[in-house]
Amino acid sequence: MQIKCGTDIIEISRIKQSIEELGEHFKNRIYTKQEIEFCESKKKQKFQHYAARFAAKEATFKAISQLLDNKFDISFNQIEVFNDSNGRPYIRINDFEFKEIKSIDISLSHCREYAIANVVVLM
Ligand SMILES: CC(C)(COP(=O)(O)OP(=O)(O)OC[C@H]1O[C@@H](n2cnc3c(N)ncnc32)[C@H](O)[C@@H]1OP(=O)(O)O)[C@@H](O)C(=O)NCCC(=O)NCCS
Repeated sequence: MQIKCGTDIIEISRIKQSIEELGEHFKNRIYTKQEIEFCESKKKQKFQHYAARFAAKEATFKAISQLLDNKFDISFNQIEVFNDSNGRPYIRINDFEFKEIKSIDISLSHCREYAIANVVVLM
């Protein structure tokens, strides 16, 4: 068994700017419908949640990059962040079946300026 980790930090203002300038096109390229609904439900805080999910996708990509090398082209909206009924986040990778992946765990945090994600993968 191997442990792989990925981490990412992002300025929330960068995501806010992309959403405000590129609108639906940016949102649909990066996020799934459910992620957009989740973030929009957070009203004024929504950019923190969008940024956290962006960081989550990049961190996941880093953690699984060894499986992707020259073989697969995975897009942002194929890595999806859900929250369970207690708010705990978890990841699903859509459209791909990586038999090597036994388990993925994620932790998110965000404040006014930054969002961060840590992902650990067991393979
Ligand atoms: C859940 C909690 C830990 C979130 O921490 P926070 O500082 O308010 O907010 P952060 O920005 O760091 O983290 C927010 C993210 O935490 C994650 N989260 C929420 N509930 C969670 C839970 N039960 N377990 C793990 N992660 C959780 C979510 O991913 C959330 O982001 P999202 O809504 O965009 O998905 C906090 O609100 C809480 O309930 N604290 C009380 C328990 C505690 O801290 N005890 C300390 C002594 S052990």
